[in-house]
Amino acid sequence: MIISICVGSSCHLKGARRVVEQLQPLIAQTDANIELGGCFCLNNCTEGVCVKLDGELFSLQPEDVQQFFETEILRRLSPT
Ligand code: FES
Repeated sequence: MIISICVGSSCHLKGARRVVEQLQPLIAQTDANIELGGCFCLNNCTEGVCVKLDGELFSLQPEDVQQFFETEILRRLSPT
């Protein structure tokens, strides 16, 4: 799984760093092979911090990270 957090200026101002800081320990709790990285502007600057998860774009506020982790990341990790 590849997660890219936009670190462009708009997303930076909306809290990209806090999103990364909150995601890191959550990801570390899993044994999954998750690659967390930064990327430049994804042309989705209007909402929150833009996060790309396996090619799908999300817009997060830093306070949404826990829920995003549970509903998107853990869901993809668990076999259905
Ligand atoms: S600065 Fe993040 S999507 Fe544009």
